[in-house]
Amino acid sequence: MNLRLKVWRQPNAQVPGQFVSYDAPGISGDMSFLEMLDVVNEGLIKKGEDPIAFDHDCREGICGACGMVVNGRPHGPRAATTTCQLHMRSFKDGDEITIEPWRAKAFPVVKDLVVDRSAFDRIIEAGGFVSVPTGSAPDGNAILVPKENADLAMDAAACIGCGACVAACPNASAMLFTAAKVSHLGLLPQGQPERDERALKMVAAMDEAHFGNCTNHGECEAACPKEISVEFIARLNRDFMVAGIRQRPKSRRGADGG
Ligand code: SF4
Ligand code: FES
Repeated sequence: MNLRLKVWRQPNAQVPGQFVSYDAPGISGDMSFLEMLDVVNEGLIKKGEDPIAFDHDCREGICGACGMVVNGRPHGPRAATTTCQLHMRSFKDGDEITIEPWRAKAFPVVKDLVVDRSAFDRIIEAGGFVSVPTGSAPDGNAILVPKENADLAMDAAACIGCGACVAACPNASAMLFTAAKVSHLGLLPQGQPERDERALKMVAAMDEAHFGNCTNHGECEAACPKEISVEFIARLNRDFMVAGIRQRPKSRRGADGG
C-alpha cells in the first residue's frame, strides 16, 4: 500500500505544533501501525530529518504506552485494540491517515505524538495500593473472594493506563481510569482497609491534575482498548459518596450515624 500521513509535529509543549505530510510507500498490511511509523522514521533518518517521536514499549497491548489519535479516534479504527496491535490491513491503498497526540490539559505534549502521562502516576500514588502484611505467603484460600467480585476486580484490573479514555472524553476526564483503579482494589478483601481513603484521595489527585469532570458521554468506554465499563464510574461515585459521609464529623451525621 502507498499511504499519505498527516502527522502532528511539535518540538515541545512551549512551541506550537503543526501537521506535516509524509508519504509512506510500500506498506504491508501485515505491519503493525507502529512498524509502519518505524519504516517512515527510517526514511526520515536516511534523509537527515528528525524522526517522528512516539511512545511505545511492549508492542503487545499490555503496557499502555503507545497511545495516539488515528483518524480522530484514540488508538485508531478498531475497537478494543491498542495502536501497537492495530494492523495496516485496517487501511486501504491511497488512504490519508491523520495522526495526533492525546489532547488534554493534564497530558502536555513532550514531543510530536508523545505526551506526559505522569498525572496518572500521581493518581495511583494517591491511593492505588493496599497495606499488606509482609512475611510468609498466606495459605491458599485463607481469604475467600466471591467469584463475582473476583471477576469484576479482574475486569477493572485490565486497565493498562493508556489514557485513551481521557483523549476520547470531551471534558478530558480521567474518571474511567480512576474508577478502574479504585474498583479493582475496592472489590477485594485486601483492598478494604484503605477503601474510603483511596476513593477520596485518588479523586482529589485527579482534580488537582486538571482532568475534567465526567458528564456521562460514554466516549471513554467506546475508546478503551480493554473495554473497561462505565459501570465502574458508577461504582466509584458510590464509593466516593459513602467515604465522604463516613469521614464527616459525627456531629454532622444523621441520627442513624450515616
Ligand atoms: S480505562 Fe481503558 S482507556 Fe482508560 S487508561 Fe485504562 S485501559 Fe486506557
Ligand atoms: S506498546 Fe505497550 S500497549 Fe502498545
